[in-house]
Amino acid sequence: MDTHVIQHFTTLTPAELDHWSDQRLTAVEAALSNWISPDAPAGLGQAMRYAVLDGGKRLRPMLVLAAREAVGNGVKDDALDAAALRAACAVELIHAYSLVHDDMPCMDNDVLRRGKPTVHVKFGEAQALLAGDALQALAFELLAPENNDASASDAGVHIPDHVQARLCRLLAKAAGFNGMAGGQAIDLASVGLALNEHQLREMHHLKTGALLEASVMMGAACGDTTGQVWDCLQRYGRAIGLAFQVVDDILDVTADSVTLGKTAGKDAANDKPTYVSLLGLTRAQEYADHLLAEALKALQDSGLASTYTLVALAQRVVNRKT
Ligand code: IPE
Ligand code: IPE
Ligand code: MG
Ligand code: MG
Ligand code: MG
Repeated sequence: MDTHVIQHFTTLTPAELDHWSDQRLTAVEAALSNWISPDAPAGLGQAMRYAVLDGGKRLRPMLVLAAREAVGNGVKDDALDAAALRAACAVELIHAYSLVHDDMPCMDNDVLRRGKPTVHVKFGEAQALLAGDALQALAFELLAPENNDASASDAGVHIPDHVQARLCRLLAKAAGFNGMAGGQAIDLASVGLALNEHQLREMHHLKTGALLEASVMMGAACGDTTGQVWDCLQRYGRAIGLAFQVVDDILDVTADSVTLGKTAGKDAANDKPTYVSLLGLTRAQEYADHLLAEALKALQDSGLASTYTLVALAQRVVNRKT
């Protein structure tokens, strides 16, 4: 694959990144569809599939797979590749569950998500609540597979127990009180308040950054990653995780609902503190650019040989239009 040097970082063009991701996301989509059973009772399976399939940028799965490839040095390992695919799906399930609950009337009260009516609009609030619960549980089920599950696409491959445990721990911590759920609690408690920069950064790190950082670290955990490489990938994940929510705040103001697939302008309408309300558009974009530079520096410091996909994903996080 051709690579291009931008500001002395080797990266992929957007078309090359699309090519890279198309191949991998085909496998992710197939695995998600396979693992979310339509037969869950009383329509729950339909609500779960509606929440996850046919939509979303799949950025978190891409980060898992790109980090796995960066630490894997091109060496094929069926067990670790299977673990990475499961981790990619698991983090997307947690993310999808967080969106279902985030959209409910008791939280952001949104009617449009991924270009479709939200899950509670389509299936009712109780089913949306349960779909979120069940997606969260399924994520952890995927990370700790039964050895004798002959129906799984990776049947016969044994993911080492310590890798399974590490993936569960990384995802649980990122999803819980000191991660996404905690950040969402701060978000709801902050309506109408003018948070200072430190408070806003903390909220964004938790509600959004934690899962993105965990995506990178789960990919890194599908390899023998320790020490400086681990620390640098964590710095990278933390920087792009925060940048992602800064850009989400910007797009809420600058983009339209059709492009976003969700209702634009909701942060101001719901009186949420955001990077735009705190800094204004120009300084918010400058901050996102600063975080991109931090992320790229961390990759450089890692000493990893091939980071161009991670570089390109960081650039996409900050330069995205949707
Ligand atoms: C939206 O995430 C919610 C935030 C954490 C800001 P994404 O923008 O990744 O949503 P999808 O997965 O592409 O729909
Ligand atoms: C969502 O933040 C963070 C989550 C944990 C889901 P937002 O509430 O800003 O996300 P959108 O804009 O609705 O996608
Ligand atoms: Mg929200
Ligand atoms: Mg929301
Ligand atoms: Mg938003």
